[in-house]
Amino acid sequence: MAKSINLEPSRTLMEFRLLPGFTKLACNAANISLKTPLVYSAQNEDKYYLNVPIISAAMQSVSGHKMGIELAKLGGVAVIYCSQTAESAAKMVAKIKNHKAGFVKPKTVKANMKISEMFKIREETGHSTFPVVDDNGVFVGLISKWDYDVSLHADCIVADRMIKKENVEVGIGITKLEKANKILLESHKSVLPILDANGKLLHLVFRKDINDQLDNPLEVHDEKKRLIAVASVNTHDYKVRVPLLAEANVDVIAIDSSDGHTEYQADTIRWISENYPQIPVIGGNVITKEGFLYLVEAGAKAIKVGMGGGSICITQEQKGTGRGLATTIIDVVEARDKYFQETGIYIPISADGGVTSTKDVTIALALGADYVMMGRYFARMEESPTNKIVINNHVMKPYWGEGSARAQQWKEKRYNQGKFVEGVEGFVEYAGRLRDNLPETIAKIKASMGTCGVMNIKEFHQNAELELVSALSIREGKAHDIYQGAEGNSNENETTN
Ligand code: IMP
Repeated sequence: MAKSINLEPSRTLMEFRLLPGFTKLACNAANISLKTPLVYSAQNEDKYYLNVPIISAAMQSVSGHKMGIELAKLGGVAVIYCSQTAESAAKMVAKIKNHKAGFVKPKTVKANMKISEMFKIREETGHSTFPVVDDNGVFVGLISKWDYDVSLHADCIVADRMIKKENVEVGIGITKLEKANKILLESHKSVLPILDANGKLLHLVFRKDINDQLDNPLEVHDEKKRLIAVASVNTHDYKVRVPLLAEANVDVIAIDSSDGHTEYQADTIRWISENYPQIPVIGGNVITKEGFLYLVEAGAKAIKVGMGGGSICITQEQKGTGRGLATTIIDVVEARDKYFQETGIYIPISADGGVTSTKDVTIALALGADYVMMGRYFARMEESPTNKIVINNHVMKPYWGEGSARAQQWKEKRYNQGKFVEGVEGFVEYAGRLRDNLPETIAKIKASMGTCGVMNIKEFHQNAELELVSALSIREGKAHDIYQGAEGNSNENETTN
């Protein structure tokens, strides 16, 4: 006989709805805060937090350095994937930490390069402006797409068409964005090369980037104003990986594992906590109270919960293990709250896998999660590390699971693993830039919280009232019994924002 058999089905987020609470006048989007703790920190409660309760999944098709930079600017964090060499993951972290708001480390060209050759680099990188430097990195000129026509100048060299240094407005040793902005405004230029005292090129500052930068009130950063960087590790090569990540100044490490209730994971957490006590560890994934407590006692400072629900996940089919995410959150949150009452230590919980639409985010938060991790949502964005392709007139991006054959290619060589897969490969509809999508998601979460009459996530945890709904009720909750045309009818399963 099995140790336990639960005849109550486990529940998904989709099966819950929120009841409205009393909404005061002050309870509006401008006043509602989505600030939430990323990990527990004994010394400083406010050290690690998110301004938007959403992080991107540690996946090859989701979280590279571009996502890391953009999401941190917008108030969340990306978890850099570990299914790559430790060196390349550390480079990604370094790019996030070294990203100086608005200051870009540009691709440079040499004065004797043929225009046709530079045009190839332009096509490969998508960059249209290149600083020209000599062999010592000293700035000698600037060339942009307005300075040449490749059909006329293919055989010329860069020196023939560039704007020479003496005719370019430059900034010497500038580190403040506001100052660079002032020079750009006054000189009517769109780009400003920043040089050191010896004339060596340091950065470029673009006017379009400044506008973005000055417009990032939710940005999450460390005490030196560098963006927060989070990277994942596995339970195999952490002794090699963590030192490189630490050297790159990673802020937080998340363990990437489909089943975290294991001795391997406790060993990994203990080793990191002993050797790098300044780097908090997010443990997981677990789906039971016991799993939660086991990892917290090993030293985890936040816990990811969820197994089997991801949009690319076939773990339940392959192994028969898993649990509905709503039931998981309810169970683990109960253990977390009890642990808090007993110890005064509040361990944030991240709901992970199958958080597909904004209403799923809201239900997960209402049930007690502090933030959610999403893969599919972010895979659709410009900043995910994949290329767009067109399928049946739809612009798509590829999206694949970390347990898929594609993701395991790098690993097989290393660990000789991969007897079966736990994930699939597919495509998701391209959605555009993250900064054009996230505001709508945030607006919807705040609107739900407003309807529930709560001003922040803590109040949401304490005051949310939820109800299970029937399948018919879910059907009734969508537009029905009207003709919306082909577009409207394809909206059966809302899976976008
Ligand atoms: P999504 O947001 O529903 O697409 O789910 C993303 C989550 O699925 C990730 O954060 C992981 O927890 C999980 N995941 C990623 N790759 C795989 C896989 O290959 N098999 C099972 N789960 C996966």
